[in-house]
Amino acid sequence: MNKLIVSLLLTLGMSGVAHAAGDAAAGQAKAAVCGACHGPDGNSMAPNFPKLAGQGERYLTKQLHDIKDGKRVVLEMTGLLTNLSDQDLSDIAAYFASQKGSVGAADPKLVARGEALFRGGNLDKGLPACTGCHSPNGSGNAAAGFPHLGGQHAQYVTKQLTDFRKEEGGRANDGDAMTMRTIARKLSDEDIAAVSSYIQGLH
Ligand code: HEC
Ligand code: HEC
Repeated sequence: MNKLIVSLLLTLGMSGVAHAAGDAAAGQAKAAVCGACHGPDGNSMAPNFPKLAGQGERYLTKQLHDIKDGKRVVLEMTGLLTNLSDQDLSDIAAYFASQKGSVGAADPKLVARGEALFRGGNLDKGLPACTGCHSPNGSGNAAAGFPHLGGQHAQYVTKQLTDFRKEEGGRANDGDAMTMRTIARKLSDEDIAAVSSYIQGLH
């Protein structure tokens, strides 16, 4: 009986994943409108527009649903996702996930502090190392939905950490466990500047 339930759950879980899987080739055409801000291959040039290239598919799909549903507010994208189906969102996510992400450079003056925080956290403040979820080279954990950070624009990363830190009107789509909100509230402005710069050059 127990074995049956386990195999049933596994089957359900696996078909769930298969259903959500995107088609990168189909996604390329559907992502044409996104290129104006995020870059045709997902490597945006503007520091306030996040790079999507090489980002995990699961994470991208979740963000697209959150943005479409208004759980994460992105004014620049108002209306852009309204007419896209679940399959469209999955295909677009698969397309950007299949692209190679570019890497920037860290500010040499900030790199030591940023690296110490990223790799070691801060024991006194109860702050975990970022590597635990985002991996030592910043590639994240695609299967778990932990985002890839390495090479991301420092300005965008700073805005996200500041938004996670806000009590109201910030970014609150990190789930009921409030993982990133709890972490960001332990970061000072100086911590955020240093770790964001470090992430921009990380690969
Ligand atoms: C007019 C510019 C613009 C266009 C066009 C645009 N975006 Fe965005 N997008 C943004 C901005 C700005 C953000 C980040 C907002 C913030 O600071 O939180 C963003 C965030 C995102 C994110 C979250 C990235 C992350 O790392 O969490 C995804 C995914 C995304 N956009 C996908 C798309 C897709 C797919 C399209 C096309 C259907 C699109 N965007 C079109 C400006 C744009
Ligand atoms: C326990 C796991 C965990 C740890 C530790 C962690 N993160 Fe995260 N982080 C996440 C998850 C999960 C998300 C995605 C939340 C969501 O779904 O919106 C995230 C999202 C982010 C984002 C937004 C990425 C984007 O593209 O918008 C940034 C930036 C970030 N984390 C930075 C950090 C930094 C810096 C540290 C260390 C100080 C850290 N994280 C530690 C799990 C973690």
